[in-house]
Amino acid sequence: MQNRTEKWMAEGEQVLMPTYARFPLVLKQGSGATLRDVDGKAYLDFVSGVAVNALGHCDPVLVQAVQQQAATLLHVSNLYYNLPQIELAKILVQHSFADKVFFCNSGAEAVEAAIKLARKFAKEKRPGDRFEIITAESAFHGRTMAALAATGQAKYQAGFEPVLSGFRQVPFDNADVIANAVNAHTAAVLLEPVQGEGGVRIPKPGYLAAVRKICDNAGVLLILDEVQTGIGRTGHLFAHQAAGIVPDIMSIAKGLGGGLPVGAILAKDAVASVFQPGSHASTFGGNPLVCSAGLAVLKRLTEEASFLEAVLEKGDYLIAALKQLQTACPLIKAVRGRGLMIALDLTIPAQDVIEAALADGLLLNRTSENTLRLIPPLTIRQEEIERMLAVLSKILKAKPDKEEHAET
Ligand SMILES: Cc1ncc(COP(=O)(O)O)c(C=O)c1O
Repeated sequence: MQNRTEKWMAEGEQVLMPTYARFPLVLKQGSGATLRDVDGKAYLDFVSGVAVNALGHCDPVLVQAVQQQAATLLHVSNLYYNLPQIELAKILVQHSFADKVFFCNSGAEAVEAAIKLARKFAKEKRPGDRFEIITAESAFHGRTMAALAATGQAKYQAGFEPVLSGFRQVPFDNADVIANAVNAHTAAVLLEPVQGEGGVRIPKPGYLAAVRKICDNAGVLLILDEVQTGIGRTGHLFAHQAAGIVPDIMSIAKGLGGGLPVGAILAKDAVASVFQPGSHASTFGGNPLVCSAGLAVLKRLTEEASFLEAVLEKGDYLIAALKQLQTACPLIKAVRGRGLMIALDLTIPAQDVIEAALADGLLLNRTSENTLRLIPPLTIRQEEIERMLAVLSKILKAKPDKEEHAET
C-alpha cells in the first residue's frame, strides 16, 4: 500500500512546476528544530528553510504574535501607515547603521530594490553616467532578472539570456581587483559579507574595510547583501558588524520574518532620500502580518540577553567538533563557518551524505557537489547539536573515501 508521502509526492508532481529537485519528503508539522512528515517520521532540521527559521519552527511567541495580528489586521496598502511596519522599521534602525527602511517580500526583491536605489543615487548625486554594479564571482543574489545578472554565474543564467547589462563580476576576497574595476561608470559595489550559496566563503580580515575605503575614495556606494548572513546567522545581528564597517545600503530577508516572507533594504538618509513617492513600491511589502513576525524575531534577538553570544558559542563549538571529526575522517577536506553558518568540503558527493542523513532523520543541505552546509535554527539546543554530530559522524565514518574507493 502507498504511504502518505508517496501519495502526496505523486499529487504534487501533477501540479507543481518542476523547478526543484525535491527530496522524497512531505513535511507537515514543526516544533523547535524538529519537523514531522505526513507519515509521522521526525527529522532534526539543520536547514531551517535555508536559513529562514531563525527561532525554529512554530516558536510560541512568534506564533502568538502572528495569530494576534491575523485576527487584528492582515493587510493594508502602503498608501497608508500600519503599526507593525513602523515598529519593525524602528527596531531595525535602532540596531543598525541605517536611518530608513523599505520593505519587500524576499531576498531577490531586496537586492532589486538595492540596485534601483544605488542607480538612482548615482544618477542624482554623482556626476557623469554611473550605473554599473560590481559584484563578486561565486556570489548569489537571487533569481529575478537583475539579481540574476548580479549573481553572475552561468549555471543560474543559462536559458534566460540575454542577461541584463550593467553588472561586472570580479574575484571575491580581493580588494585590488575591485579598485581596478571601479571606473567612471560605477554606481556601486555589491557583496555578501560571507558568501552563502557560494559555500560559506569567509573573506580575509580587512577585505570589507578595504572595499569600504575604495568605495569612499571613488564616491561609489557599498551594498551589502545580508539576506543570508543577517538577522543573527553569523552571531552578530548583521555580519558586517564583525568587520567594523557599515554599508551604504543593506539587503535583508530570510530570517527577518522567521518563516514569513519579508525582505527589506536599509540605508542612511543621504542615500534613502533619493527614493521619492513613485520611485519604488511593493503591494505586500511590509504588511502588518509579516511585520508582526519580524518584530517577534527582532525582539528576541535584541532583547533576550546573550541570544547572539549563544549563536557564536554554539557555532564555535560545532566548528571545533567538526574539525575534531575531520582528524578521524579523511572524507572531510575542510570545515569553515561563522556562527551557525557552517560548511564542510568533502571528498565525496555531499548528496550521498544528505540522503543517508535523511534516512536517519536529519536534514542537511549542500551548496555544491562536494560542500555540505549546516544552517540550523539559531535556537538549536546543545543536545540537538550532539545528535547531529553523532549522525553525521556515523555516516561519514561508514563511507569509503573516494580515493580509497577508486583503488578497490
Ligand atoms: C545572499 C542572498 N541574497 C539573495 C538571496 C535570494 O533570496 P530569495 O530566495 O528570498 O529571493 C539569497 C537566497 O539564498 C541569498 O542567499
